[in-house]
Amino acid sequence: MMFSNLLITKPIQANPEVHAGEDLPLTPEAARAGGQHGQLKRTLSGWQLLLLGIGGIIGAGIFVMTGQAAANHAGPAIMLSFVLAGLACAFAGLCYAEFAAMLPVSGSAYSYTYATMGEALAWFVGWSLVLEYQFAAAAVAVGWSAYTISLMESIAHLAGFNWHFPAALASAPFTFRDGQLVATGAWFNLPAVLVIGAVASLCYVGIKQSASANAVIVAIKVTVILALIGFGAGHVNVDNWSPFIPANEGGDRFGWEGVFRGASIVFFAYIGFDAVSTAAQEARNPQRDMPIGILGSLIVCTILYIAVAAVLTGMVSYTELGTAKPVATALEGYPSLALLKYAVEIAAVAGLTSVILVMMMGQPRIFYAMANDGLIPRLFAAVHPRFHTPHKATIIVAVVAALLAALFPLGVLGDLVSMGTLLAFAVVCVSVLVLRRTRPDLHRAFKVPFAPVVCVLGALSCLALVFFMGWYNWALLAAWTTIGFTIYFGYGFRHSVVRKQASRA
Ligand code: ALA
Repeated sequence: MMFSNLLITKPIQANPEVHAGEDLPLTPEAARAGGQHGQLKRTLSGWQLLLLGIGGIIGAGIFVMTGQAAANHAGPAIMLSFVLAGLACAFAGLCYAEFAAMLPVSGSAYSYTYATMGEALAWFVGWSLVLEYQFAAAAVAVGWSAYTISLMESIAHLAGFNWHFPAALASAPFTFRDGQLVATGAWFNLPAVLVIGAVASLCYVGIKQSASANAVIVAIKVTVILALIGFGAGHVNVDNWSPFIPANEGGDRFGWEGVFRGASIVFFAYIGFDAVSTAAQEARNPQRDMPIGILGSLIVCTILYIAVAAVLTGMVSYTELGTAKPVATALEGYPSLALLKYAVEIAAVAGLTSVILVMMMGQPRIFYAMANDGLIPRLFAAVHPRFHTPHKATIIVAVVAALLAALFPLGVLGDLVSMGTLLAFAVVCVSVLVLRRTRPDLHRAFKVPFAPVVCVLGALSCLALVFFMGWYNWALLAAWTTIGFTIYFGYGFRHSVVRKQASRA
């Protein structure tokens, strides 16, 4: 009995198709809640969704992690790592596109799993997505802080001042050194808190405003990345690409092992295309525009990433790229590109800002879906009467992200964020096949081509990348999942709307 309770699925409406601009019909529980829990509004165009995807994707992954992955694991073959991670994302992206066009709701992978594989697995996916969205927002805010401080100091220096940002306000009070938690002497990370506050304010007042700010930021970062590729290509020394795959030095240092480990690291750079699906309930024409937003942003970013990886490893030896700012490092050797170096710093700050924005938009919308299902308190489902945003969830997500970013050393979290995301991707790939079998009647505006092959390859490639994360990260994930299920059995299991409806029926 208990086991079958855990497998209960949320019924999909017989005709979930919405027409352009139309709001989804109120769920019975939302209708019962009346004015207190309003509706999200369908305002986003296909173009805005595509830009949201690019805004969420290009950030710390390319501007920070690529260098470490090339210098310590893959060498010039980091290009191959990008291809491998991109392939896993392409399989998953196709599956997200099928679901998001068919079920245009805000819960993303959580909602898809609930409709197909049951409540317990849906909870697991929703809880894993907290790693993706909530923790990524905080971790990227810490990266934003470092880039912004360095940019402000460079500008001050150019203007002739020897100014430094107060160290006590520049980082978390603790950090990990040689596996130990040690005090840094700092109080807290002020810039990280400020950027989260600013971004959260935007998310609070409206998705349209957020999408417009995102469009400006995306224009800046894509222009600079194209300039980097264009100018950098002229300074590539092909000798730097040889050996393409440096010989293995043991473990996952170079060789094919290193290429795969590199893929599991740079996977972080691709996270974000799936965030488009959290805006499905606010898309004007989700059947057409969800696939455009998800797959379009993924294609654009894959091409840019492989080109940037080629240029960086071609401009300097991969051995020199293991710095906190590898793009700036590659440009430093070329005085003629000094201006581009400053432009890259501005683009990095802009790029990280839009990643924080998209993550901070996504998390409250997943909580909104979970709260409407009764798995977390209803407070998270409240929608602002005027702004039509999940405003209370936005404030809670912002406060938690600000505390995390202010007080904890989050640099170590990249792999954990990726792992939560990969598990969600794997479940979505399997869910497509399950729903094709259990509900072949549903209208699918977009269909994964060669579904059995693509879905199986998608799930396997995501699990393979999880495998290359190493046992330390698996242990952290196991701890995270245990906390999640403790909360589920303490609250969600007892308040589940679907289960209550099933027991009344
Ligand atoms: N893909 C996002 C980034 O690289 C999470 O920052």
